[in-house]
Amino acid sequence: MTNELRDRTVLVTGASAGIGRATAAQLASMGARVLLASRSRERGEAARASIAERVPGASTELLLADLASQDGVRSLAAQVLTATDRLDVLINNAGVFTRGYQATPDGLETQFAVNHLAPFLLTNLLRERLAESAPARVITVSSEAHKRGRIDFDDLQGKERYNGLKAYAQSKLANLLFNRELARRLGGTGVTSNALHPGVVATGLLFDSFRPLKLLRPLLRTPEQAARTTICLAAAPALERLTGLYFIDCEPARPSVAARDDAAARRLWQISAELTGIDGRG
Ligand SMILES: NC(=O)c1ccc[n+]([C@@H]2O[C@H](COP(=O)([O-])OP(=O)(O)OC[C@H]3O[C@@H](n4cnc5c(N)ncnc54)[C@H](OP(=O)(O)O)[C@@H]3O)[C@@H](O)[C@H]2O)c1
Repeated sequence: MTNELRDRTVLVTGASAGIGRATAAQLASMGARVLLASRSRERGEAARASIAERVPGASTELLLADLASQDGVRSLAAQVLTATDRLDVLINNAGVFTRGYQATPDGLETQFAVNHLAPFLLTNLLRERLAESAPARVITVSSEAHKRGRIDFDDLQGKERYNGLKAYAQSKLANLLFNRELARRLGGTGVTSNALHPGVVATGLLFDSFRPLKLLRPLLRTPEQAARTTICLAAAPALERLTGLYFIDCEPARPSVAARDDAAARRLWQISAELTGIDGRG
């Protein structure tokens, strides 16, 4: 175990599987105290056990919450605030792809809710604790799929005509607009916000919906390889002051024109604040 992140507390959402689990393991191996957020006790405990096996002395705790519901996000934030006086890094990693339209308990479209609104609400609920822990970092796992995305402000929930791929791309574009606006709002607080693309990765997110892609597994990244950019953003001293950027392979990358639209970022922030009931002015 290296000690680069000793005394740092990191929250990883979607830590039960895929890139999130690999990220949590690497953070633990660097000495961080890692809070693993999972919606399933069974899968969360399995992730903890596999980390303990690989990283003797790992400091991990399991927090349970289904991020599809806003009550679930609020419960996760409350658990974090109880569990820790400091939060150095928040990693918004949990994500989902659904081919067909699925509604959340709040009546919202699932990919928009889990991939965008959950990080939006969670980050806002933890913002004060992050600021108290400054220098602190918020990291949001987006995707190059954002380049096929468009924010359909007239039909954000895809109720008119649903297309799973379009909704996924929209949610990943929303991640980047959120990242941009958050960085602006966090200016001067010592808390940075950056987003990333992890590569095309052999995980359930891809294989559960596109089975034939399993044949390409040897060409895809492993979750451990994919976690690298998240780890850079969480730990690299050189990145401490960079904010509002999008990274691929630990390097700043240029997102789409739509992802650099400040007016759209502000508009999406306001709508997201209304949908989650938080004060959108801060
Ligand atoms: N795989 C790729 O090629 C790729 C490419 C670009 C970006 N990404 C992004 O990378 C991130 C991680 O994806 P992955 O590939 O590692 O997928 P994954 O293996 O399917 O893992 C997704 C994680 O998110 C959790 N999650 C999903 N819905 C949730 C909910 N309602 N509440 C709480 N947790 C929930 C899952 O929990 P369960 O174990 O309970 O399902 C799992 O831990 C996502 O944001 C994804 O968009 C992936």
